[in-house]
Amino acid sequence: MPEFAAHLTEVILVNSKQSIELLNKSVADELSAVHQYMYFHFHLDDLGFAPLANLFKRTAIVEMGHVEALAERILFLKGDVHMAASGAVEPITDPSKMLAKAIEMEQGSARDYNAAAQNCGSNADAVSKQLFERLVGDEEGHENEFDRQLENIRRFGPSYLALQSFGAATAPEPSET
Ligand SMILES: [Fe+2]
Ligand SMILES: [Fe+2]
Repeated sequence: MPEFAAHLTEVILVNSKQSIELLNKSVADELSAVHQYMYFHFHLDDLGFAPLANLFKRTAIVEMGHVEALAERILFLKGDVHMAASGAVEPITDPSKMLAKAIEMEQGSARDYNAAAQNCGSNADAVSKQLFERLVGDEEGHENEFDRQLENIRRFGPSYLALQSFGAATAPEPSET
């Protein structure tokens, strides 16, 4: 192999390795979100707050789709998927605190994916960059929905969730592009 071609192959391998690391870190964060949101779902369902319980369940399913998209990209780059969550589930059972935690998680993901997109862009990995950019859009949409729910609890008081469960209002669908 000519020297230039060998060097190019090496650069591509190094860049792929960096992308695979970023993608796997994101898999771990997405798995944490799936676990945390399903935990919230179980508790809200138990409390009888069906619309918010369903919003968390539907959002968890979207996050699972994110795991799938990230995994497909990792396998394309000839890496392997590490199916381990980045953190333990926090045992939060107060609905306002659940929403505050979820907003914090979505903001963290959007920030991380923006940085990962930039990183992949500068490593000449345009496809991973586009994937991360798509995820930023989804996470910002989730943050917006959780924020709206928290705002409604603040505006209308704790009875908002009970009233919502009687069909006075419906929780929105989670964002997915
Ligand atoms: Fe996600
Ligand atoms: Fe999200």
